Amino acid sequence: MRNTVSDIWKLYKSGEKIACVTAYDSTSALLADRAGVDLLLVGDSLGMTVLGHETTVPVSLEDCLRHSAAVVRGSEKALVVADMPFMSYHGSSHEALKNASRFMQESLASSVKIEGGEEVAELVKLMVQGGVPVMGHIGLLPQAVLVKGGYKVRGRSKEDEEQLLKDALALQEAGAFAIVMECVKDDAAQRIVSALDIPIIGIGSGLACDGQVQVMHDVLGLDPRFTPRHARKYLNLAEQIEGAFGQYKDDVKSSSFPSNENWY
Ligand code: KIV
Ligand code: NA
Repeated sequence: MRNTVSDIWKLYKSGEKIACVTAYDSTSALLADRAGVDLLLVGDSLGMTVLGHETTVPVSLEDCLRHSAAVVRGSEKALVVADMPFMSYHGSSHEALKNASRFMQESLASSVKIEGGEEVAELVKLMVQGGVPVMGHIGLLPQAVLVKGGYKVRGRSKEDEEQLLKDALALQEAGAFAIVMECVKDDAAQRIVSALDIPIIGIGSGLACDGQVQVMHDVLGLDPRFTPRHARKYLNLAEQIEGAFGQYKDDVKSSSFPSNENWY
Protein backbone atom coordinates (compact mmCIF):
# COMPACT_ATOMS: atom_id res chain seq x y z
CA MET A 1 0.00 0.00 0.00
CA ARG A 2 1.26 3.42 -0.92
CA ASN A 3 1.99 5.87 1.89
CA THR A 4 -0.77 8.36 2.56
CA VAL A 5 -0.60 11.67 4.39
CA SER A 6 -1.60 9.71 7.54
CA ASP A 7 1.53 7.60 7.22
CA ILE A 8 3.62 10.77 6.97
CA TRP A 9 1.87 12.17 10.08
CA LYS A 10 2.51 8.88 11.89
CA LEU A 11 6.24 9.25 11.25
CA TYR A 12 6.05 12.85 12.43
CA LYS A 13 4.21 11.98 15.64
CA SER A 14 6.58 9.11 16.43
CA GLY A 15 9.55 11.44 16.02
CA GLU A 16 10.99 9.43 13.14
CA LYS A 17 12.54 11.73 10.54
CA ILE A 18 10.87 11.83 7.14
CA ALA A 19 13.18 11.05 4.21
CA CYS A 20 12.32 12.70 0.90
CA VAL A 21 14.15 12.97 -2.39
CA THR A 22 13.20 14.34 -5.76
CA ALA A 23 12.57 11.98 -8.66
CA TYR A 24 11.74 12.72 -12.27
CA ASP A 25 11.62 9.38 -14.04
CA SER A 26 10.35 5.90 -13.32
CA THR A 27 13.70 4.11 -12.91
CA SER A 28 15.09 6.45 -10.28
CA ALA A 29 11.67 6.47 -8.58
CA LEU A 30 11.80 2.67 -8.43
CA LEU A 31 15.25 2.71 -6.82
CA ALA A 32 14.46 5.41 -4.23
CA ASP A 33 11.21 3.62 -3.44
CA ARG A 34 12.96 0.28 -2.97
CA ALA A 35 15.48 2.03 -0.69
CA GLY A 36 12.59 3.04 1.57
CA VAL A 37 12.43 6.77 0.95
CA ASP A 38 9.12 7.93 2.46
CA LEU A 39 8.16 10.60 -0.04
CA LEU A 40 9.12 11.31 -3.64
CA LEU A 41 8.88 14.89 -4.81
CA VAL A 42 8.58 15.49 -8.51
CA GLY A 43 10.23 18.88 -8.19
CA ASP A 44 10.02 21.54 -10.84
CA SER A 45 13.81 21.42 -10.37
CA LEU A 46 13.35 19.04 -13.31
CA GLY A 47 13.71 22.24 -15.34
CA MET A 48 17.42 22.22 -14.49
CA THR A 49 18.16 18.56 -13.72
CA VAL A 50 16.35 17.05 -16.71
CA LEU A 51 15.46 19.74 -19.23
CA GLY A 52 18.61 21.88 -19.10
CA HIS A 53 16.98 25.20 -18.21
CA GLU A 54 18.72 27.72 -15.95
CA THR A 55 15.80 28.16 -13.54
CA THR A 56 12.42 26.57 -12.83
CA VAL A 57 10.62 29.45 -14.56
CA PRO A 58 10.36 27.86 -18.05
CA VAL A 59 8.89 24.59 -16.68
CA SER A 60 5.40 23.92 -18.00
CA LEU A 61 2.38 22.19 -16.55
CA GLU A 62 2.74 19.48 -19.20
CA ASP A 63 6.38 18.89 -18.16
CA CYS A 64 5.38 18.40 -14.52
CA LEU A 65 2.37 16.22 -15.39
CA ARG A 66 4.42 13.88 -17.59
CA HIS A 67 7.27 13.44 -15.08
CA SER A 68 4.86 13.00 -12.17
CA ALA A 69 3.07 10.21 -14.01
CA ALA A 70 6.43 8.50 -14.66
CA VAL A 71 7.39 8.69 -10.97
CA VAL A 72 4.01 7.28 -9.92
CA ARG A 73 4.43 4.39 -12.38
CA GLY A 74 7.93 3.61 -11.11
CA SER A 75 7.13 3.62 -7.39
CA GLU A 76 4.87 1.55 -5.15
CA LYS A 77 5.21 2.73 -1.58
CA ALA A 78 6.40 6.33 -1.44
CA LEU A 79 3.91 9.19 -1.31
CA VAL A 80 4.31 11.12 -4.56
CA VAL A 81 4.10 14.90 -4.35
CA ALA A 82 3.95 16.81 -7.63
CA ASP A 83 5.27 20.36 -7.87
CA MET A 84 2.90 22.80 -9.53
CA PRO A 85 5.06 24.89 -11.88
CA PHE A 86 5.53 28.60 -12.40
CA MET A 87 2.28 30.57 -12.73
CA SER A 88 0.07 27.47 -12.79
CA TYR A 89 -1.64 28.53 -9.54
CA HIS A 90 -1.60 32.33 -9.76
CA GLY A 91 -4.56 33.04 -12.03
CA SER A 92 -8.10 32.52 -10.81
CA SER A 93 -8.59 29.92 -8.10
CA HIS A 94 -10.78 28.13 -10.64
CA GLU A 95 -7.81 27.72 -12.96
CA ALA A 96 -5.49 26.73 -10.10
CA LEU A 97 -7.91 24.05 -8.89
CA LYS A 98 -8.31 22.72 -12.42
CA ASN A 99 -4.53 22.49 -12.80
CA ALA A 100 -4.17 20.78 -9.41
CA SER A 101 -6.83 18.25 -10.33
CA ARG A 102 -4.86 17.23 -13.44
CA PHE A 103 -2.01 16.00 -11.20
CA MET A 104 -4.45 13.85 -9.27
CA GLN A 105 -6.51 12.58 -12.19
CA GLU A 106 -3.98 12.33 -15.04
CA SER A 107 -0.62 11.79 -13.30
CA LEU A 108 -2.22 9.93 -10.38
CA ALA A 109 0.01 11.81 -7.92
CA SER A 110 -1.11 11.75 -4.28
CA SER A 111 -0.60 15.44 -3.59
CA VAL A 112 0.73 18.71 -4.97
CA LYS A 113 3.20 21.31 -3.71
CA ILE A 114 2.96 25.04 -4.29
CA GLU A 115 5.38 27.81 -3.30
CA GLY A 116 4.33 30.61 -0.96
CA GLY A 117 2.94 31.40 2.48
CA GLU A 118 0.11 33.69 3.55
CA GLU A 119 -0.57 34.75 -0.05
CA VAL A 120 -1.50 31.20 -1.11
CA ALA A 121 -3.22 30.08 2.09
CA GLU A 122 -6.73 30.71 0.76
CA LEU A 123 -5.94 28.60 -2.32
CA VAL A 124 -4.49 25.81 -0.17
CA LYS A 125 -7.76 25.76 1.76
CA LEU A 126 -9.79 25.42 -1.45
CA MET A 127 -7.56 22.63 -2.74
CA VAL A 128 -7.76 20.67 0.50
CA GLN A 129 -11.55 21.16 0.59
CA GLY A 130 -11.63 19.71 -2.91
CA GLY A 131 -9.68 16.63 -1.82
CA VAL A 132 -6.16 17.56 -2.91
CA PRO A 133 -3.51 17.06 -0.21
CA VAL A 134 -1.19 20.08 -0.35
CA MET A 135 2.41 20.48 0.71
CA GLY A 136 3.47 24.07 1.31
CA HIS A 137 6.87 25.55 0.48
CA ILE A 138 8.33 28.52 2.35
CA GLY A 139 11.73 30.18 2.65
CA LEU A 140 13.74 30.44 -0.53
CA LEU A 141 11.21 30.18 -3.37
CA PRO A 142 12.94 29.28 -6.64
CA GLN A 143 9.97 30.32 -8.79
CA ALA A 144 10.44 33.90 -7.49
CA VAL A 145 14.11 34.08 -8.51
CA LEU A 146 13.58 36.78 -11.13
CA VAL A 147 11.53 38.95 -8.77
CA LYS A 148 14.05 38.59 -5.93
CA GLY A 149 17.10 38.97 -8.16
CA GLY A 150 18.74 35.73 -7.05
CA TYR A 151 18.60 32.87 -4.56
CA LYS A 152 18.90 34.19 -1.02
CA VAL A 153 19.00 32.52 2.38
CA ARG A 154 15.91 33.46 4.40
CA GLY A 155 15.35 34.20 8.07
CA ARG A 156 18.45 36.31 8.61
CA SER A 157 16.55 39.25 10.16
CA LYS A 158 13.94 39.24 12.95
CA GLU A 159 11.32 40.68 10.53
CA ASP A 160 11.96 37.93 8.01
CA GLU A 161 11.78 35.29 10.73
CA GLU A 162 8.39 36.70 11.83
CA GLN A 163 7.13 36.62 8.24
CA LEU A 164 8.24 33.02 7.76
CA LEU A 165 6.50 32.01 10.98
CA LYS A 166 3.29 33.74 9.82
CA ASP A 167 3.57 31.98 6.47
CA ALA A 168 4.02 28.58 8.08
CA LEU A 169 1.10 29.11 10.47
CA ALA A 170 -1.16 30.30 7.62
CA LEU A 171 -0.37 27.16 5.61
CA GLN A 172 -1.01 24.93 8.61
CA GLU A 173 -4.29 26.72 9.31
CA ALA A 174 -5.29 26.29 5.64
CA GLY A 175 -4.81 22.53 5.91
CA ALA A 176 -1.41 21.86 4.33
CA PHE A 177 -0.28 18.38 5.43
CA ALA A 178 3.42 19.35 5.50
CA ILE A 179 5.70 22.22 4.51
CA VAL A 180 9.02 22.30 2.69
CA MET A 181 11.27 24.92 4.23
CA GLU A 182 14.12 25.89 1.94
CA CYS A 183 17.35 27.62 3.00
CA VAL A 184 16.08 29.19 6.23
CA LYS A 185 18.73 30.13 8.78
CA ASP A 186 19.07 27.53 11.50
CA ASP A 187 17.75 29.52 14.49
CA ALA A 188 14.71 30.82 12.58
CA ALA A 189 14.12 27.28 11.30
CA GLN A 190 14.19 25.85 14.84
CA ARG A 191 11.62 28.38 16.02
CA ILE A 192 9.27 27.62 13.13
CA VAL A 193 9.58 23.86 13.56
CA SER A 194 8.70 24.06 17.26
CA ALA A 195 5.73 26.38 16.61
CA LEU A 196 4.10 24.05 14.05
CA ASP A 197 2.02 20.89 14.46
CA ILE A 198 2.65 19.56 10.94
CA PRO A 199 5.90 18.15 9.55
CA ILE A 200 8.46 20.65 8.31
CA ILE A 201 10.65 19.10 5.63
CA GLY A 202 13.90 20.99 5.40
CA ILE A 203 16.36 21.64 2.63
CA GLY A 204 19.32 23.70 3.77
CA SER A 205 17.42 24.56 6.98
CA GLY A 206 19.27 22.53 9.59
CA LEU A 207 18.69 19.48 11.75
CA ALA A 208 15.63 20.66 13.69
CA CYS A 209 13.35 19.93 10.73
CA ASP A 210 11.08 16.88 10.90
CA GLY A 211 12.55 15.50 7.70
CA GLN A 212 14.86 16.37 4.85
CA VAL A 213 14.42 16.68 1.11
CA GLN A 214 17.23 16.74 -1.41
CA VAL A 215 17.50 16.90 -5.15
CA MET A 216 18.33 13.45 -6.48
CA HIS A 217 21.14 14.76 -8.67
CA ASP A 218 22.84 16.32 -5.63
CA VAL A 219 22.58 13.12 -3.55
CA LEU A 220 24.00 11.01 -6.37
CA GLY A 221 26.58 13.51 -7.62
CA LEU A 222 25.04 13.32 -11.07
CA ASP A 223 25.85 16.84 -12.15
CA PRO A 224 29.58 17.42 -12.64
CA ARG A 225 29.15 21.21 -12.56
CA PHE A 226 27.67 22.10 -9.19
CA THR A 227 26.74 20.78 -5.74
CA PRO A 228 25.00 23.17 -3.31
CA ARG A 229 26.30 23.60 0.24
CA HIS A 230 23.18 21.98 1.70
CA ALA A 231 23.76 18.71 -0.16
CA ARG A 232 25.85 15.68 0.74
CA LYS A 233 27.13 13.71 -2.24
CA TYR A 234 26.63 10.01 -1.52
CA LEU A 235 28.09 9.04 -4.87
CA ASN A 236 30.11 10.67 -7.58
CA LEU A 237 27.96 9.28 -10.37
CA ALA A 238 29.00 11.97 -12.83
CA GLU A 239 32.56 10.65 -12.78
CA GLN A 240 31.47 7.00 -12.92
CA ILE A 241 29.02 7.56 -15.75
CA GLU A 242 31.46 9.59 -17.79
CA GLY A 243 34.05 6.86 -17.26
CA ALA A 244 31.61 4.15 -18.35
CA PHE A 245 30.60 6.04 -21.49
CA GLY A 246 34.28 6.58 -22.31
CA GLN A 247 35.04 2.87 -21.86
CA TYR A 248 32.06 1.95 -24.05
CA LYS A 249 33.20 4.39 -26.76
CA ASP A 250 36.74 2.98 -26.68
CA ASP A 251 35.42 -0.61 -26.87
CA VAL A 252 33.27 0.21 -29.89
CA LYS A 253 36.17 1.91 -31.66
CA SER A 254 38.60 -0.92 -30.90
CA SER A 255 36.02 -3.60 -31.80
CA SER A 256 36.23 -5.13 -28.31
CA PHE A 257 32.49 -4.60 -28.00
CA PRO A 258 30.39 -6.52 -28.87
CA SER A 259 31.85 -9.97 -28.23
CA ASN A 260 30.28 -13.32 -29.00
CA GLU A 261 28.05 -13.40 -25.89
CA ASN A 262 26.44 -10.15 -27.12
CA TRP A 263 25.22 -11.38 -30.51
CA TYR A 264 22.56 -13.77 -31.66
O1 KIV B 1 11.81 21.46 -7.14
C1 KIV B 1 12.39 20.94 -6.15
O2 KIV B 1 13.26 20.07 -6.29
C2 KIV B 1 11.97 21.38 -4.83
C3 KIV B 1 12.73 20.85 -3.65
C4 KIV B 1 14.16 21.22 -3.69
C5 KIV B 1 12.11 21.22 -2.38
O3 KIV B 1 11.05 22.11 -4.72
NA1 NA C 1 10.27 23.01 -6.64
